[in-house]
Amino acid sequence: METTKVAIVGMGTVGTGVARLLLDHGDRIARHAGRNLSLEQVVVRDLSKSRGAEVPTGLLSTDLKRITGDPEIKVVAQLVGGLNPARQIMRQLLESGKDVVTANKALLAEHGGELFDLARELGRSIAFEASVAGGVPIITNISQCLSANQIVSLSGILNGTSNFILSQMEKGNEYGEAVREAQRLGYAEADPTMDVDGSDAAQKLAILAHLAFGARVHWKDIPRVGIDRVHVDDIRYAGELGYRIKLLAVARLLDPGDSSQGLEVHVAPTLVRKGSPLAEVRGANNAISVVGDAVGRVFFHGLGAGQMPTASAVVSDMIDMAVGRTQLTFRTLQLWSDREAQVDACDHNNVMGRYYLRLQVDDNPGVLADVAGILGQHDISIASVIQHEAAEEGADQDKRQVALVIMTHASTEGDTRMAVQKIDRLPAVRPGTVRMQVMD
Ligand code: NAP
Ligand code: HSE
Repeated sequence: METTKVAIVGMGTVGTGVARLLLDHGDRIARHAGRNLSLEQVVVRDLSKSRGAEVPTGLLSTDLKRITGDPEIKVVAQLVGGLNPARQIMRQLLESGKDVVTANKALLAEHGGELFDLARELGRSIAFEASVAGGVPIITNISQCLSANQIVSLSGILNGTSNFILSQMEKGNEYGEAVREAQRLGYAEADPTMDVDGSDAAQKLAILAHLAFGARVHWKDIPRVGIDRVHVDDIRYAGELGYRIKLLAVARLLDPGDSSQGLEVHVAPTLVRKGSPLAEVRGANNAISVVGDAVGRVFFHGLGAGQMPTASAVVSDMIDMAVGRTQLTFRTLQLWSDREAQVDACDHNNVMGRYYLRLQVDDNPGVLADVAGILGQHDISIASVIQHEAAEEGADQDKRQVALVIMTHASTEGDTRMAVQKIDRLPAVRPGTVRMQVMD
């Protein structure tokens, strides 16, 4: 049987999983690839760190030249996170003639154009299944299996850490503790701020929007709100109303028949009706609901973060590269190239949706009427209202505050935002009204 020599750069959570699969399951991989994948080098930053996989003596080093200088090594898994030095490492690997597999969505969302152009120029390929949704094979499905379709929309839970934290909060666990647990389990980024503020999901959505719609949208231009704004009270009220809160990443053609109308893209905590597939995604799982004009709705679900699920996607890409499949797809798809179909992001203010509002108001006569009046001025119709009696028995009536929860009928993002700004200026309302989209 032929052998393809491979290497790994970066042996943290994901790199360790990749090494374990290559070293412990070589026979299985050889059966699927029709060739052996021989791990020749593993480059790390700090040799003194203990690793969760037994790497044979002599393989581990801090010297990238041991990979770039060896023409026999054909495929490299680049598993260093962040932008620098990951970007330089990617460039050096491509320039030294390697085909590269990466899980680094931050790098692709920021410098995908440059790196894909370089790979094309050099006749090399980049594979990145693990960069979105970890172990869930969404990249291959969108770029290959659904290529007969015009994708109309995709809605996904793309950040495992956020979904894990929300699931923990639903069980009554505290936010900070849930973040620490996600870090301990290897789901979170080196800087978990990127997970909880919606940036990681926006980076993944930018990649999917490229693949599914040919959209050139930079992740920083995607309107995004993270779960760091979600309060346990909102989880409770959402539950009372029959919903769960999920961090949804959405890309949707405003008019499926006319892509010139633009693409709605956003990342935000969203109320999703209990029992619907996205609402029931728990823990570090990810899910993506894709609608294509020919196939209809298809749903992908599985672990979106963690060592072995992510390694599963990386090693599958390595096998595809060893076999030669990726090189063909890479050349054909022309990703991040000027030949991609173009669609622009639409003005987010015009996007229609239903909204959940939670206000903290003085428990006085006329307050609800004032709030309803402002919503009415902006053509926003109220679907339901919850106000529980104030808890503090005997407190001074004038000082009592209560939560007022309002579900609206469909209105535009711009109108709702403006109405909430006005509501927040009412003397009886404490500024900081919570506003979340509702997906029915
Ligand atoms: P990690 O645990 O922080 O590991 C990063 C590794 O990169 C470490 O082993 C580190 O070496 C190594 N490294 C850093 N700078 C280096 C350099 N200059 N030369 C060589 N090695 C260097 O990160 P991770 O969780 O494995 O994530 C890796 C990538 O996969 C990230 O882009 C991440 O976004 C993505 N990803 C992660 C997951 C997940 O569930 N964790 C899922 C999907 C995608 P030392 O160990 O020696 O410091
Ligand atoms: N930190 C990421 C997440 C890892 O939680 O989803 C997978 O990309």
